[in-house]
Amino acid sequence: MSPLIANCNLKIFNNREAIHHYLDDIRSSGKSIGFVPTMGALHAGHLSLIEAARRKTDFVVCSIFVNPTQFNDKKDLENYPRPIEDDLRKLREFKCDVLFLPEVDEMYNSSEFWSIELDNLDNILEGRIRPGHYQGVTQIVKKLFDTVQSDFAFFGQKDYQQIMVIAYMVRKLRIKVKLVICPIIRENDGLAMSSRNVYLLPAERLQALALYKSLTLAHELFKTHSVKQVKKKVNDFLESCPGIETEYFEIYNARTFKPITSKRAVTMIALVAARIGKIRIIDNMYLNKENLY
Ligand code: PAF
Repeated sequence: MSPLIANCNLKIFNNREAIHHYLDDIRSSGKSIGFVPTMGALHAGHLSLIEAARRKTDFVVCSIFVNPTQFNDKKDLENYPRPIEDDLRKLREFKCDVLFLPEVDEMYNSSEFWSIELDNLDNILEGRIRPGHYQGVTQIVKKLFDTVQSDFAFFGQKDYQQIMVIAYMVRKLRIKVKLVICPIIRENDGLAMSSRNVYLLPAERLQALALYKSLTLAHELFKTHSVKQVKKKVNDFLESCPGIETEYFEIYNARTFKPITSKRAVTMIALVAARIGKIRIIDNMYLNKENLY
């Protein structure tokens, strides 16, 4: 670690017990704690979560941990971006108070295996395409929640299914944390920010806009068409887009996270996933709420 980084205000912990004790003192002083779990490669989406945590709570904790158990592809895990110096600079700039930066053996025993029943939320959409992914996510998030014991935890709407899975776990295990969903942060042309966007080749970066376009199309069509018609027209649109291999486009009840077949007096959300070359992109948009940020 460079001396510049070592000298700054952000406190960095690698050890679970040490951060836990440190945060006990923060809690005893009456401060509320906001937690932003990440896998690093921080972009404006993550930084908006830090800002939201700063607005809502007195003390902001971020974690950076590239969690091996949520990757189904070893190569994907190896290649995941880890620009730690850059991340530290951003966390300081956005006035994060504490970073938890553990190694893998701090979080997992080599013989560890457990899973949690997730009401089938882990087997649909992303879970169907990435078997075991949400078991990995819930394993690490449970450990991080136990370590940090924050009042609030902040997640980006972009991984909407992840929030549904974590919310289910929080209810089921009665974890005392309130989840805050923050809006998707997009590039100027609409592409949802993601740590994986850096891997898109220039031509693929343009093709990837089809996902945002499919969602704005769905949002528009939804005003005048049935759910079935919207799904058909949006799937046809995606099929016509060069370079896009659609994995799913679905319309779900945003609260129960069950598919809907007809319009109801509930918030509905369109979710899309596609492959562009070697990269998978996901995105979503509420259909009956103004959310074209
Ligand atoms: O969304 C992410 O970055 C990860 O899935 C999370 C929640 C940090 C768990 O590893």
